[in-house]
Amino acid sequence: MAAAGISLTGAAPAGTATPMSRVVPAPASVQPGGSPYRITDSTRIRVDGSRGAREAGEYLADILRPSTGYRLPVTTRGDGGLQLRLGAKGLGAEGYRLTGGSSGVTITASGPAGLFHGVQTLRQLLPPAVEMDSVQPGPWLVAGGRIEDSPRYGWRGAMLDVSRHFFTVGQVKRYVDQLALYKLNKLHLHLSDDQGWRIAIDSWPRLATYGGSTQVGGGTGGFYTKADYREIVRYAASRYVEIVPEIDMPGHTNAALASYADLNCDGVAPPLYTGTDVGFSSLCVPKDLTYDFVDDVIRELAAITPGRYLHIGGDEAHSTSHEEYVAFMDRVQPVVAKYGKTVVGWHQLTAATPAKGAVAQYWGLDSTGAEEKERVAAAARGGTGVVLSPADRVYLDMKYDRDTPLGLDWAGYVDVRRSYDWDPGTYLPGAPSSAIRGVEAPLWSETIVTSADIEYMAFPRLPGVAELGWSSASTHDWEDYRVRLAAQAERWEALGIGYFRAPHVPWPAR
Ligand code: ACM
Repeated sequence: MAAAGISLTGAAPAGTATPMSRVVPAPASVQPGGSPYRITDSTRIRVDGSRGAREAGEYLADILRPSTGYRLPVTTRGDGGLQLRLGAKGLGAEGYRLTGGSSGVTITASGPAGLFHGVQTLRQLLPPAVEMDSVQPGPWLVAGGRIEDSPRYGWRGAMLDVSRHFFTVGQVKRYVDQLALYKLNKLHLHLSDDQGWRIAIDSWPRLATYGGSTQVGGGTGGFYTKADYREIVRYAASRYVEIVPEIDMPGHTNAALASYADLNCDGVAPPLYTGTDVGFSSLCVPKDLTYDFVDDVIRELAAITPGRYLHIGGDEAHSTSHEEYVAFMDRVQPVVAKYGKTVVGWHQLTAATPAKGAVAQYWGLDSTGAEEKERVAAAARGGTGVVLSPADRVYLDMKYDRDTPLGLDWAGYVDVRRSYDWDPGTYLPGAPSSAIRGVEAPLWSETIVTSADIEYMAFPRLPGVAELGWSSASTHDWEDYRVRLAAQAERWEALGIGYFRAPHVPWPAR
C-alpha cells in the first residue's frame, strides 16, 4: 500500500481514495466531488442485459475478487453498487462516463469498448493492492465525482517483434493485458523478418517449420500455428485490442528465402540468419512465383485476421532497386485489398504509390531529412493515413540512457520525458492533423528475450505513448504527468511488472 502522508509520489495515502485526476491516460474531463464509494462484502456488479456489459462485469469481477476476497456477483437485478450499462449517447465507440458517489459507481458507454475502458479507469481509482492475487486488507474506496472520457485517436498501438526473438502465446497475452490497462487498442505483430518466420502458412509449410526454426543468437525460435494465432486474436479482442499482423517485404525476407530456394532470383536458398544486420535480403521482384507466394500468404493470413489491417512492411529494402520496389508495391497492395484488408506499410511505402486508403507508419527521427518528411506529409495530404512511431521518441527498444542493459541506441537514448513530450497532432510538418490516425510504440527484439525484458523497456514509456494517443493535447503537461506516472508504480509492482526507475519521476520509495 501507499506510504503514509501527503505524497509527492502521487500515491494516495492509505485509507483515502485515489483522486480522479491521477488516471493515466488523462481523461478528457474530470469533475471530482461528493462522497467516495466503498466496495464491501455486499457489493454487487450490476449489468444491463447486453453481452458487452456482462463481459465487462465478469472481467471486473475477475480483477476484484482475488484481492478483496468478496463474492461480487454479476447480476442484472437491483440498483447501486458497481453498475455497467450500454446505451449512453454521444460518447463514441470507445468513450465512457463514470460517476461515483456514496451509493455506487456507474459506468455508461455507447459501445462495449467504452465500458471496458471505463473499467480500466475504475481499476486505477482503486488502490494498487487491488491487482494482487491474494486477499488484501483494503479499504476499497472509489473517489466521488464524474469522468467523461473519449480518445483523441483511434489508433493507439504497440508493436512486438516476434521474429528476432520468438514470444509464446502466453507472453503475448501478458503484453495484451498491459496494453489494455492503458487503453491501447492495437497490437501490431511483426511476424516475419530475416531471422524468423513466425506464422504457419499451409500452402508454404517450410516458412514456419524451417524459416521459424531459429532466431537472433541461434536459439530454437518458434512459430504460431493457426490455432495459436486465433487464440491471440481472440484474447486480444476480449480486451478490445485489434491484432495488426505484419509480413515484412520485399526486404527483411531471409527466413522465407532460406525456406524456398525457388523464391530466390538465382534459385539458391541462403542459409538461415541469426545476426542483427538489416537490408541484405529481397524477394525476387521479376519472378512470377513471388506473387503466387505473396497471394497465398496474404490470403491465408487475412482469413485468420478479423481486424481491418494487414501490414506489408516495406522498410529498409536496401537490396531492392527503387524501380523494383515501386513495381513490387504496385502488385502487392491490390492483393491486400482483394482479401478485404487495408494496407499498412512503414513510411518508405510513400516512395512508391500508396494504395487508396493505405496507412503509412512513420518511424523517422527529428534528424530525418526534410525531403523524406515531406514525402510522407504529401502522401498524407493526398489521403494516406499516418501512424506516428518516431524512433527517437517511441521505439521502446532504444536504451533509456548509457547504462540501460538492454536495447539499441541507433536512434539515440530515449528517456521517459522524451518519449512523452511531443504532440502527434503537430509532429510531422505539412501533414494535415486529420491524416494522423494515432501513435504506436514498436518494440524490436534483437536484445529482448523474456517478458521481463519487454516490461523493463515498455515501463515506464508505454503509458506515456498511450496518453499521447488517448488524451487531448490540452492535458499535456510533463510536471503533472510525471506525478501521475509515479503513482502507477505500485500497481506495476502488484502485477509483477518490472520497470525502469527513470530519473525525474518521483517514484515511491521501496
Ligand atoms: C524499422 O525500424 N526498420 C521500421
